[in-house]
Amino acid sequence: MGNLSESTACSQNSAEVGNENDFRVHVFSSSSELLEKLHEKWSSVEKQPYPAMYSSIYGGIILDPALMVIPIDDHMVHRGHGVFDTAILFDGYIYELDAHLDRILRSASSAKISPPFPRSALRSILIQLSAASKCKKGTLRYWLSAGPGDFLLSSSGCPTSAFYAVVIDDDFSQRKEGVKVITSSVPMKQPQFATMKNVNYLPNVLSVIEAEEKEAFASIWVDEEGYIAEGPNVNVAFITQDKELVMPLFDKILRGCTAKRLLELAPKLVDQGLLKGVRTTNITVEEAKAAAEMMYVGSTLPVLPIIMWDDKPIGHGKVGELTMLLSDLLWDDMLEPIFDPQASNRRLSLSRSSSFSAAQRSGFDSNLHLKSICPLVSVFV
Ligand SMILES: Cc1ncc(COP(=O)(O)O)c(C=O)c1O
Repeated sequence: MGNLSESTACSQNSAEVGNENDFRVHVFSSSSELLEKLHEKWSSVEKQPYPAMYSSIYGGIILDPALMVIPIDDHMVHRGHGVFDTAILFDGYIYELDAHLDRILRSASSAKISPPFPRSALRSILIQLSAASKCKKGTLRYWLSAGPGDFLLSSSGCPTSAFYAVVIDDDFSQRKEGVKVITSSVPMKQPQFATMKNVNYLPNVLSVIEAEEKEAFASIWVDEEGYIAEGPNVNVAFITQDKELVMPLFDKILRGCTAKRLLELAPKLVDQGLLKGVRTTNITVEEAKAAAEMMYVGSTLPVLPIIMWDDKPIGHGKVGELTMLLSDLLWDDMLEPIFDPQASNRRLSLSRSSSFSAAQRSGFDSNLHLKSICPLVSVFV
């Protein structure tokens, strides 16, 4: 019965697209034929956007984009049993690598994925991958997956978890133009899932599509209690009318590495008398809409001014001054040359001496030779 109705449905479909005999599926006779086909596809691409990938399945770094693939029986592919994170490569450094590594390990633990390597090996793989990519500006995305094995729900049939990472050659610059946002009508994830960075991003995708359909840049989630949550892949922050920087609490949303860093840096503006205070708190929609300034905060931005929300201006409807000062703080932090005793002549003269920065950036050189100066600092030469 099942077969009969399936075949009826199939013939109805093929009747719509023409005779099924017109459509012949090619069977690749050898892996070399398939590889040739994949290379053909990539050869027409002007600039290869993915200079390097790491796969624990291969056990190494891949430079050939045609082979940057993951197994279809990986539970991350067919069950969403995987977590991920993204750090940026900027000026030859991986910004905030340790914060991002800590977060993926927390996410993996919440998702009951036991990483295939210890933290130190994962860190070293990411640095060596970045070096092999020769990419100085871009994004570094990486995944911990339950691994390949079968197509069941349980990962008990997966012999080992998997680690994948890819470098994406991306250009980005400081965001100075304001954008429009909408309140998302797509339900946000429950706190258990929103606080871990797992690969199930369908609600996030749908909320961006909804925003695009309404000619907005992205959306804002409001939680069940009516408090501001976050954007689809960014956190959100506000400057109140009395010049306080406020951000939602992180108990029901993703703890953004950029937001965390912003909260560490923003007190500089308080010291200068430009901001009155910095705080995380529950923020109602009403309070948020009455803010003087509003912004998205996330790794690749790092700050994006928001000027309109649900077709109403935020503050004066212009890019906020304090928003841009906060953006400058993060941008400078990303650019800050690190304290490097071995290359002190060259590097120290450039240093704007932030006591924070040495810990934030991990450098690498394109010869895969890591010049580790101390556990936290290495430098691109
Ligand atoms: C849902 C969500 N919220 C917030 C963020 C911002 O986090 P980060 O600053 O680490 O990029 C992201 C991006 O990772 C995200 O996916």
